[in-house]
Amino acid sequence: MSRTFVMVKPDGVRRGLVGEVIRRFEAKGLTLKAMKLIRVSPELAAQHYAEHREKPFYGELIQFITSGPAVPMVFEGREAVTVARTLMGATDPAKAVPGTIRGDFGLEITENVVHGSDSPESAEREIGLYFQPEELV
Ligand code: TYD
Ligand code: MG
Repeated sequence: MSRTFVMVKPDGVRRGLVGEVIRRFEAKGLTLKAMKLIRVSPELAAQHYAEHREKPFYGELIQFITSGPAVPMVFEGREAVTVARTLMGATDPAKAVPGTIRGDFGLEITENVVHGSDSPESAEREIGLYFQPEELV
């Protein structure tokens, strides 16, 4: 058993895709362990995306992720990190294959609907940023 951190980004919430994203993860067999609706603060966004601080897209990314409500979640299951990334599709929705979340619902690289941790270590770090231990049920 392993767990991963997933977040429906502000574009996904704005477009009414929260249920669709959760449906796909649940249908695959992952178990929802925690979820809430929040407005990501600039401080939290900076911690979340610290690895990208020097990238040219960083400013736009922080502006976008703080632009409206988002839905952070924790999912648990076998190979949760890899399975979630596979369901999400490639970072650039223009290149993500149909059948994936980004492949079916996105077109712009910044507004790519969903975030998912890229390793078990990232998952634990990100879960700790967004959730208190008692929020995991
Ligand atoms: P990254 O961690 O590389 O992708 P992923 O979300 O698939 O783990 O990048 C974080 C986010 O930054 C990505 O979801 C969208 C945005 N981004 C851009 O806007 N432009 C880019 O060129 C890249 C690589 C990412
Ligand atoms: Mg990433």
